[in-house]
Amino acid sequence: MTDTPPLPPENVFDWLEAEGQRRAEAGLSRRMNPRPAQHAVLDLAGNDYLGLARDKRVAGAAAAAALRWGAGATGSRLLTGSTELHSELEHELARFCGTQAALVFSSGFTANLGAVTALSGSESAIVTDKYVHASLVEGCRLSRADIAAVEHASPAAIKHALATRRKPRAIVVIDSVFSADGELAPLGELAEICRAHSAALVVNDAHGFGVLGEGGRGAVHAAGLSSAPDVVTTLTLSNALGAQGGAVVGPRRVIRHLVDTARSFLFDTALAPASAAAALTALQVLKSEPELPAKVIENAGNLAMGLKNAGLPVDLPEAGVVALRTPSPQAATAWAEACAEQGIQVGCFRPPAVPDGVSRLRLTARADLSEADVDRAVKVIAATAPRG
Ligand SMILES: Cc1ncc(COP(=O)(O)O)c(C=O)c1O
Repeated sequence: MTDTPPLPPENVFDWLEAEGQRRAEAGLSRRMNPRPAQHAVLDLAGNDYLGLARDKRVAGAAAAAALRWGAGATGSRLLTGSTELHSELEHELARFCGTQAALVFSSGFTANLGAVTALSGSESAIVTDKYVHASLVEGCRLSRADIAAVEHASPAAIKHALATRRKPRAIVVIDSVFSADGELAPLGELAEICRAHSAALVVNDAHGFGVLGEGGRGAVHAAGLSSAPDVVTTLTLSNALGAQGGAVVGPRRVIRHLVDTARSFLFDTALAPASAAAALTALQVLKSEPELPAKVIENAGNLAMGLKNAGLPVDLPEAGVVALRTPSPQAATAWAEACAEQGIQVGCFRPPAVPDGVSRLRLTARADLSEADVDRAVKVIAATAPRG
């Protein structure tokens, strides 16, 4: 390299075009579609499971908090960013989930990074399923631990990796609901395996919280593990709560450790007060309307049954996610665009968002879907499905 003449500054990023060309040829280019404030489409692509993002109580609380506390948090949690709203949200999240304590982060992604890195390190092993969410994958990469990313949905593979690890400490890192296909991890079985091997269980309940379990208390609560001393749960406040932010809930000693050591907590501006207030109000709505999560599951089941009856290969959902596999990334894009043209917005998942490399349409059911909405969605999705 030393003999090569330096590139002119305008050519330093030339490699980006070659990479972009490769992505375009593989059907993997992406573009943003900014939506207007009022959008006449049926949203089956977002994660607003309970329809709370635009709920007047929730959005109103965010607006009032911005006026009272300011638009931004002004600093990290340990400097100026912690407000009374953050403490109240942590108290309420822990109470709702049935854990000793909670810690709010600026997003679910940073909560996952913080939990995985602070609870592992070079003296630890991490065992994980190879299909977990990107935020957990990045946490593992940053951790400096020995990583075993094992076969998908295989408690036996997790057990084997724990039994054969070289490091004394270990955590198992898992999604409660896998976000591409929506299937559930067997949390009870995994907790037993962890206990037999002196390991902790870290569960990302991003798609379970607000959707599964009693009144939406999540998959960990449903598995009877929320007060376990060896189980830690991560949450996003941006899915079912319709707000923004993330949290870790679990044993008090774990939360204390995260406050001192989780770098994505320490070195990140705190969650904006408006988002903390929105999440707090959404949690109150969820508590006062405990029937909402069951509506999500019912609507997901109706969507899947309708699509199955229309001849599409679809698994019956265990949570709020319905997935439809497609022959190629290009077919997924074309199908999603055809649905959008007819007023139905669906998620288009292509690599790297699908760890198995199989592109999909992903539908997220919402509590506020009517029967007519479900029927219309089924008709449009079936009529626009790729042939053959
Ligand atoms: C499974 C899963 N985990 C974590 C996250 C990250 O959460 P956030 O968007 O709050 O950063 C997401 C994003 O929706 C997710 O789908």
